[in-house]
Amino acid sequence: MKKKHKVLFVCLGNICRSPMAEAIFRDMVDKAGLTDCFEIDSAATSSWEIGNPVHHGTRNKLKEVGISTKGMTARKLTKGDYARFDYIIGMEQENIRNILKIVERNDSEKVFRLLDLSKRPRDIADPWYTGDFETTYQDVLEGCTDLLAHILKA
Ligand code: 4NP
Repeated sequence: MKKKHKVLFVCLGNICRSPMAEAIFRDMVDKAGLTDCFEIDSAATSSWEIGNPVHHGTRNKLKEVGISTKGMTARKLTKGDYARFDYIIGMEQENIRNILKIVERNDSEKVFRLLDLSKRPRDIADPWYTGDFETTYQDVLEGCTDLLAHILKA
């Protein structure tokens, strides 16, 4: 069987942004008929929300666009995730620093921000603090679209 592309989305709590990216990216991959070519997951850099379900702001925004987050719960990134995944995608620069600390690397080509591939590279704001799940959704959608194109042409 062909090698799977293994993608891990990471944010601070794993209840707002990274599960949003996981669910949107999975939906895109499924709609492209590529389900079997991908393994997709998400994780937190903190322990704060471990075991908790997706934040209602993310859940409600995704429900509007017909994407379910049922059964998803927060987990913490582990050192072992580094070897397991091909792409470890943070939402903001602080995530990148914390990811590298947890996986004990100084730098890595497979660790970058979701919007580093954008024409306008930038952080994705944390809706836990901003309350603005719509802007986060638009940013995550842009990032996931560019990421899928990037992986498919790699
Ligand atoms: P996320 O947002 O990193 O996008 O999941 C947050 C979720 C929870 C907390 C902070 C940010 N918290 O402080 O518990």
